[in-house]
Amino acid sequence: MATTFVFDAYGTLFDVHSAVRRHAESVGDGHAALSNVWRAKQLEYTWTRTSMDRYVDFWQLTQQALDYAFSAVPNTNRDARQRLLDAYWELEAFDEVRAMLVGLKEAGKSTAILSNGSPGMLDAAVVSAQIGDLLDATLSVDALGFFKTRPETYQLVCDRFDVAPTEVSFQSSNRWDIAGAHAFGFRTVWCNRSGAPDEYLDLPPDRIVSDLTNLLEK
Ligand code: LAC
Repeated sequence: MATTFVFDAYGTLFDVHSAVRRHAESVGDGHAALSNVWRAKQLEYTWTRTSMDRYVDFWQLTQQALDYAFSAVPNTNRDARQRLLDAYWELEAFDEVRAMLVGLKEAGKSTAILSNGSPGMLDAAVVSAQIGDLLDATLSVDALGFFKTRPETYQLVCDRFDVAPTEVSFQSSNRWDIAGAHAFGFRTVWCNRSGAPDEYLDLPPDRIVSDLTNLLEK
């Protein structure tokens, strides 16, 4: 059994689509497509900038991705831009998150976030979701100046908790993040909330779950 349970933030603990959902009416008919393009571009920018060694922090990339999405998706109203950005600092946590973290703490586990998010964004999301008392650390890649899936980003966990990769259970809804964590040597749990098809078949998760409810059960 792992001693240390580490979570990706966006899409895993926090619902990235809750920002657009909250303001769907003011965004307009293209709201669902806007949310998908926003998220896809936000992630793409992390990978391209890491490859180029041209770091720009996640908050700036989030804004650039939203601007692109407004340009690319028809039937959207750019007047909603600031409201969407504000909502990103107060995303909803998924329903099971708080009880799941309580269970891990009761079982004596260490808990943390490891995220591409900039420290300010992550702190705000943790406060807004009221889970700060249940996390031992909120680790951001920002200090490194590049994003996941570089191995050094996963190493932040081992350095912070003084543990070997095999003692860490890493949970993410992002299949590419699971591939990176597996390559680093973590135990991995893919939280496949959307029923997405598997990929990165040579870098598989140890376990696949549809939400985070039963992490302590095998
Ligand atoms: C995170 C994003 C990429 O690192 O989901 O939290």
